Amino acid sequence: MNRPTRREAERLDAQDPLAPFRDDFVIPADTLYLDGNSLGALPKATAPRLAEVIAQEWGQGVVRSWNAAHWIEAPQRIGGKIATLIGAKASEVVAADSTSVNLFKLLAGAVSLRPRRRTILSEPGNFPTDLYVMQGLQRLLGDRIELKVVPTEELAARIDEDTIAVALTHTHYKSGWRWPMAEITAKAHEAGALALWDLSHSVGAMPVDLNGADADLAVGCGYKYLNGGPGAPAFLYVAERHQAKIVSPLAGWMGHAEPFAFRDDFAPASDIRNQLCGTPTILGLAALEVGVDLMLRADLKALAAKSAVMCDLFIAAVEGHPAGAELTLVSPRDGDRGSHVSFAHPQAYAIIQALIARGVVGDFRAPDVARFGFTPLYLRHVDVLDAAEVLLEVMAEGAYKDERFRRRLAVT
Ligand SMILES: Cc1ncc(COP(=O)(O)O)c(C=O)c1O
Repeated sequence: MNRPTRREAERLDAQDPLAPFRDDFVIPADTLYLDGNSLGALPKATAPRLAEVIAQEWGQGVVRSWNAAHWIEAPQRIGGKIATLIGAKASEVVAADSTSVNLFKLLAGAVSLRPRRRTILSEPGNFPTDLYVMQGLQRLLGDRIELKVVPTEELAARIDEDTIAVALTHTHYKSGWRWPMAEITAKAHEAGALALWDLSHSVGAMPVDLNGADADLAVGCGYKYLNGGPGAPAFLYVAERHQAKIVSPLAGWMGHAEPFAFRDDFAPASDIRNQLCGTPTILGLAALEVGVDLMLRADLKALAAKSAVMCDLFIAAVEGHPAGAELTLVSPRDGDRGSHVSFAHPQAYAIIQALIARGVVGDFRAPDVARFGFTPLYLRHVDVLDAAEVLLEVMAEGAYKDERFRRRLAVT
């Protein structure tokens, strides 16, 4: 691609079917926000909805709202909405807990579905929490399971009759590279294994088809492209065929077949509710639902197409200028990629800090990656070029060499 011009970007914005969505968000002043893949922007409808839940449902309804305001059904109701974004049935998804906790439940659940097998397969450089949860489960279960973290290019060939599950992140958090979900799931099934997908960097950025891929299990974040707010509840998916058999390691009253029978002995629900554990976090779920409802209005194919164009524009704008020469693209140049673009540079941390000081918010991923998320729902094509210009300025001026940009903050 030739170096794009601002006029081309303006033309793309004028034709963009998603452009009206920008008005549904609070766009921070004087900021080019390229971190919606870490924390999505605030929908304008969230604050009034939360005010209503707090003042009316909680303030006036108090405990009656569990029934009257349908609080008790929120995990399934919102899960059912998320299901349409990920190619699943409404009865296969719940919104609950964090992605990490859901991973733990489903990995342990996978062990329960394959009682005679021992290995869980994943790749090095998978998102840390995914690997840590697998390591934690291995410590808990001792010799019962073995975690094998095998080179990415060998993974498909390493699936065998001892594999319980392949546990992978669909879109890589750092590079944006995307696994062929249907192909890997089919490989797992050929060997009698399960496929568990982390959709955190996919959901809300592209169409996902869990049922089409015949996927067994999945998890994902609510606070990235779903715009559910900081620490929003996550979601999990269990294919219908596994729901009656899968055992959650976190047996809690919300997963009981009859939570309000108050029996001493646990008897799991036979449907997706058996993956619930404790009382749903109603305020978090209410904010998540606003983000999900917005996303449901968007055409997912248009989202994916726009994100591909925005990523292409950014790469071409940065690489097409001499000031971008020191930055090494670590994302796929085209094709199977998510909605973010990453460049490696030994001073990536300082570069991101220098950009933030100039109003361009991306993030740093250790050890040397500067990551830029292009949220198709509320970013414009001109924002992409403007952000590239600021990055090129920072590089050309060497602005990142300033000492103050090297001080590491707790969250990068
Ligand atoms: C792929 C992936 N999985 C999981 C998480 C986070 O999980 P949690 O919400 O439990 O912190 C992230 C966060 O960035 C992520 O990128």
